[in-house]
Amino acid sequence: MCGIVGAIGERHITEVLIEGLRRLEYRGYDSAGLAVIDQGGIVRERQPGKVQALADASHAAGIDGYVGIAHTRWATHGAPTQDNAHPHQSGDIAVVHNGIIENYEALRERLQGEGFVFTSQTDTEVVPHLIQSELRKGGDFIDAVKRAVAQLHGAFALGIIRACEPERLIAVRQGSPLVVGLGIGENFLSSDQLALLPVTNRFIYLEEGDFVVLTRQKVSVWDRNGDVVKRPAVELDATLHASTKGGYKHYMLKEIYEQPAAIQRTLNGRVSQGRVALDAFGPQAAELLAKARHIQILACGTSYHAGFVAKYWFEAIAGISCHVEVASEFRYRTTVLPPDTLLVTISQSGETADTLAALREVKARAIGSLCICNVPTSTLVRESDMAFITHAGPEIGVASTKAFTTQLVALLLLVLAAGRQHGNVSADREREIVAQLNQLPNLLETVLALDPQIERIAERFGEKHHTLFLGRGAQYPVAMEGALKLKEISYIHAEAYPAGELKHGPLALVDNDMPVVAVAPKNDLIDKLKSNLQEVRARAGELYVFADRNADVRPEPGLTVFPMPGVADEVAPIVYTIPLQLLSYHVAVIKGTDVDQPRNLAKSVTVE
Ligand code: G6P
Repeated sequence: MCGIVGAIGERHITEVLIEGLRRLEYRGYDSAGLAVIDQGGIVRERQPGKVQALADASHAAGIDGYVGIAHTRWATHGAPTQDNAHPHQSGDIAVVHNGIIENYEALRERLQGEGFVFTSQTDTEVVPHLIQSELRKGGDFIDAVKRAVAQLHGAFALGIIRACEPERLIAVRQGSPLVVGLGIGENFLSSDQLALLPVTNRFIYLEEGDFVVLTRQKVSVWDRNGDVVKRPAVELDATLHASTKGGYKHYMLKEIYEQPAAIQRTLNGRVSQGRVALDAFGPQAAELLAKARHIQILACGTSYHAGFVAKYWFEAIAGISCHVEVASEFRYRTTVLPPDTLLVTISQSGETADTLAALREVKARAIGSLCICNVPTSTLVRESDMAFITHAGPEIGVASTKAFTTQLVALLLLVLAAGRQHGNVSADREREIVAQLNQLPNLLETVLALDPQIERIAERFGEKHHTLFLGRGAQYPVAMEGALKLKEISYIHAEAYPAGELKHGPLALVDNDMPVVAVAPKNDLIDKLKSNLQEVRARAGELYVFADRNADVRPEPGLTVFPMPGVADEVAPIVYTIPLQLLSYHVAVIKGTDVDQPRNLAKSVTVE
């Protein structure tokens, strides 16, 4: 959460900072600010609200300089006000920060005792004051920052400037992502390379504990032990990262429609002669999958739902036991891993703090770690033994769509590979499921054609305050994902239940004011699901059912049926996700919410 940009160059850099922040808004968007060095002093502008407010204010004030730092915030400590917006300043020092300083209260008290005056409620403000305090004790700017950083606990990435030192920009990476962008006669800093693509395609990915000094000509890096290190520069193909709305009203809608192509990219090169290419998961995959007797999946948010679907697949298709848990729970409880556990983490960004921390905690106890991730340069990919990149392409909408369905495709490939290695999936069965996966791009186009019908029905949800989502088997996590989408972007309270649990509580909520959405593919559970739907109808609940057109779910007053194409059970969770995404999208548009950047959320959650 929160995005940092920094720049030092021979040109005015305000525009670079602001464009960088626009590209980082997915990390938080409740306030933004920047500070540049101009004529020996710090000039700072901060605004509550989105980056555009900062851009307008900076332009009006004519702010410019050759070195500067900027920040877009997702509030943790203190409300999203101007005073709490970054950069925070202490005299001639300004700091931007992503992460959390856990011992800020003790530091604040001590610094107040030294006479420093605090003007915000943030944890961050201790950092510039602490550097200032260290400077008073002697030594140069770099020494003072090093001594100050050594006193900070928590996870953080920092960008620091000092007015009387316009020749350098200092950065620290300790638990929160940070990359250096390399230019000619100019260098940059950012939480994500995406922010810097307009100015460079050469990057240094910093490691945990790195301390960096950027000048116009040089980037010097010290590692966590204080030793000077040379980190490799990586050149990226910038065309892969281009991102526009391409004629769609919102990124989310564009990303929903991109799913057939994204899934095709996930499959490309990963299947050969109708079977899964084992090395798609890494060179050790064949051996580790054969050895794995248990799978532990860890993830957060939508990625957790993908893992939950995979649990059903691992046990039903591959015959391998599988547990799935949200990373923030797993990492803080005492856990017992069965022998020969393979750890699988799932993350769109590869930077989610809880998922990373869980990986670090469990890694040594597992036989190996595999991540399913969309960002090849991410920390999760670098720290896992094996990685499968989903190739969904950049996902800008905060509510995840194509990242989810491509994760599901990746996971189904993994299940097939593991099942084969265990002798539980025959070559014919594998070919059959791979053929179903290959048909998905076309099949999803058919499902997307339901869009106008879903849009019309979405009107009926606009005035509702609650919605229930039902599914059974592997469709239960799909219902969970449907409920998450609706609450994230339309702010309607939504809950998902396995349909068989309805009678154990949620049925008490059902009346004509509570729409109930169900996913009903034709499978062994369809008759049981139909009985559950009758329980809802008997209580005057309004039902919206996405049903296999051959499942004989008939429309009647109070029961709207969306006819879905017939699909094999294995790939049904992927197919039935699409209409739920469309439903949430249209409800949010009707409610007039900020679809791509819903309130209080952020796309990349780099704090615990
Ligand atoms: C945030 C995002 C979700 C995402 C979750 C996990 O909550 O808003 O869309 O599913 O983080 O993120 P990850 O990048 O690890 O998949």
